[in-house]
Amino acid sequence: MTVVRAVATLMLGVSMIFDSWGYVMPHQDPSDILILVNKQNRAPIVPMTLVKPDVEPTSDAVSENIYMRPEAAAALEELFAGAAQDGITLYATSGFRSYSTQKAIFERKLERMSEESANRSVAKPGYSEHQTGLAMDVEGETTRGTGLTAAFGDSPEGKWLAAHCHEYGFIIRYPKGKTDITGYIYEPWHVRYVGKEAAGEITDLGVTFEEYILLMRGDRVQGLREASKTDAATTAETTEETEAARDES
Ligand code: DAL
Ligand code: ZN
Repeated sequence: MTVVRAVATLMLGVSMIFDSWGYVMPHQDPSDILILVNKQNRAPIVPMTLVKPDVEPTSDAVSENIYMRPEAAAALEELFAGAAQDGITLYATSGFRSYSTQKAIFERKLERMSEESANRSVAKPGYSEHQTGLAMDVEGETTRGTGLTAAFGDSPEGKWLAAHCHEYGFIIRYPKGKTDITGYIYEPWHVRYVGKEAAGEITDLGVTFEEYILLMRGDRVQGLREASKTDAATTAETTEETEAARDES
C-alpha cells in the first residue's frame, strides 16, 4: 500500500495540473462493478438482473424502490447485519431507478429550482448511479423519516456507515468537500457498491471514485481505450468488407 500511496500522491499532484474530472470514459462494460457513472458518463441502458435485498425499507412507501444488482444486494444485507451487530439500525430508501423514475425525480426538483441547482443534488436522467443497481440511499433510526439530509452524516448511523461501509464493499460516493470532483453535494447517505478490494483502497487513499478510476486505475482506463480502438477498427473493417461485397454483387 505504501507504493500505491506514493503513486497516488504523485498522480494527485499531476491531477491538479491536468483536470480530468470532465473525462468521458471509453466504452464501459455495463456489467463491470467498477463502472464510472457521473455527469460525463452515462449509465448503461441495458437493465441488469435486479433483486430485492432482504433489509428493512425506510417505509412501506419505498419498499419497492430498493432493488439492486445481486452482488450489491448480498453485500447490502451483510452491511445492515454488521451494523445491527454494533447496535446500529439502518434502513434502505432508494436503490435501482429506471430512466423514467430518475426523470420524474429530476423534474420534481426542477419545479422548485433552476436546472443547475437541481443538478447539484439530483442526476439528470441517464446519468444517475442509481440506474446501475449498484447504489443505495441509506437512512438510520435517528433521522428516519426526516429525508435525506447532511444531518445523517452526523448521526450515529451515518458515522457508522462512513467508518465501516468499505468492509462490505461500499463507498460513500459523494464525500464532503469533493463537489468539484464528483459534481454533487455531500451525500452521506448514498453508498455505491464497488467490491471489497476497491472499497478498501479508496478508503485507505481517501480519494473519490473519480480519482480512483481515472488516476489510480489508469491501467483499466487504458485497457478500455485499447478495446474501444479495436472495436472501432473491427467495425470499420466489417463495414469495408460489407461495402466491398456489395460492390461485387
Ligand atoms: N443524488 C444522486 C447524485 C443521483 O441523483 O443519482
Ligand atoms: Zn443516492
